[in-house]
Amino acid sequence: DKVKMEDIVSLCKRRGIIFPSSEIYNGFAGFFDYGPLGSELKRNVKDAFWRSFVQCREDVVGIDSSIIHNPTTWQSSGHLDGFSDPMVDCKETKLRYRADQLFASPVVLEEDGSTVGYVCVLEANDEDMVKDAKKQAKRLLKEKDLKGSKIQAFQFRDLTEIDEDVMAQVPSPGSGKPTLTMPRDFNLMFQTSVGAMQDASSVAYLRPETAQGIFINYKNVLDTARLKLPFGIAQIGKAFRNEITPRNFIFRSREFEQMEIEYFIPPGDDVWQPYHEKWIADAREFLLKVGLKDELMGYDIHEGDGLAHYARACTDITFRFPFGVQELMGIAARGDFDLTSHTKGSGKTLDYFDEQTRERFTPHVIEPSLGVDRCILALICSAYAEDEVNGEKRSYLAFHPSIAPVKVSVLPLVKNKEPLVLAARQLFEKLQVRWNCSWDQTGAIGRRYRRADEVGVPFCVTVDFETIEDDGAVTIRDRDTTEQVRIPIDDVVDYLGKKLMD
Ligand code: GAP
Repeated sequence: DKVKMEDIVSLCKRRGIIFPSSEIYNGFAGFFDYGPLGSELKRNVKDAFWRSFVQCREDVVGIDSSIIHNPTTWQSSGHLDGFSDPMVDCKETKLRYRADQLFASPVVLEEDGSTVGYVCVLEANDEDMVKDAKKQAKRLLKEKDLKGSKIQAFQFRDLTEIDEDVMAQVPSPGSGKPTLTMPRDFNLMFQTSVGAMQDASSVAYLRPETAQGIFINYKNVLDTARLKLPFGIAQIGKAFRNEITPRNFIFRSREFEQMEIEYFIPPGDDVWQPYHEKWIADAREFLLKVGLKDELMGYDIHEGDGLAHYARACTDITFRFPFGVQELMGIAARGDFDLTSHTKGSGKTLDYFDEQTRERFTPHVIEPSLGVDRCILALICSAYAEDEVNGEKRSYLAFHPSIAPVKVSVLPLVKNKEPLVLAARQLFEKLQVRWNCSWDQTGAIGRRYRRADEVGVPFCVTVDFETIEDDGAVTIRDRDTTEQVRIPIDDVVDYLGKKLMD
């Protein structure tokens, strides 16, 4: 019962959840538009995050910073120098590839009429990683039934250190011939210019993460929000990265949203660990609460070379997407790297005065960071289900009620009996004040249920002849169990309020 990516992409398009961006102009790679249902879903996910981590906590406040900061921000944060991926161009097709992806799996070569297995082991500077990569290569070659193939391994600390002899052997995808440029660093920040002049002094960048907007506001928030350490500052908003190979639908796009918290803690080598662990646990609890399947989640603990130079520790919460296990969210312990860098860059002291100990110091930080769009993809993958109802196949989205884009669908059994439609309409208008509801009066009732199921509406309320002629009650159907209960029309709001847990 594995979920297929193409089913998800087609459902999202067909039902107005997510569209490829600028579709009438043949789209624009790496950009997506959220439709009527998708925008509701997105708002619910962001609201759930904000409720859990800002509204329900006294130690976290929120901000909403500008997307374009003073460009010096990116000099201080290290993004201008270091926020890049190694990239390779195909000289023939002009297509661009992320070097690590291009080389990550073994490239199979034909040589003198026979097949030779080939693997580049990249950015691996320890023997275990080389062994692992060889093992992975062997397994892949076995899968491809190329058991006897030779495996070659090359070892580089950095992809840009690859020499021309090796590059001359790497075939460009599709052609089988080595027509690739040497790998070079490609900065992922989008540039723009601010003001009427277009020269070096007007260059600015679209933020590649929401985090820096928090650090540069650290002092403003500290001076105004009466917070005591430990405390957090949260931000939800757009981020932009000129990804070389956007892929897997909304998993890696060029414009996306992030939900980030910078949680400031006292310095010290033995202080950060319990905070880091608590944030990992809280993050997982949140993801479970909004409906991610526990069995699809895992952890990836970064160690040694996998750790960014400024980070003390980083644990990713991973998710088993249809295209493999991938990072969903990162929880990093960043020490005092950011506040110290911005202090150096700006000349302004970004520290904390502890009234009790009378000490002044630069706090350290724990950073939970979750992509809204990646979370939405994981939620759709978790919710996607198929079963059989009355001998008919049905596919539905078993969304948790808190994130379901539509909470209730109101269905008048027939559309040509005025008192019945009127009663349904009155109920609809009453429900609409509290929840996002839909009104559906066309087609057989079974088909209408199916339509609602497909986009994850938790409850359908049907107003029928008995409602107006006999019992003054309506039928409420549960999406997941398909069970139906009869409830007096005046009790519907209370009943759904309890079921929808709000
Ligand atoms: N401030 C830390 C930071 O930005 P990151 O691992 O680069 O760390 C954090 O990004 C999260 O943002 C990721 O775990 C992912 O959920 C999301 N994200 C990053 N790049 C993305 C992209 N190109 N498309 C969609 N989501 C992305």
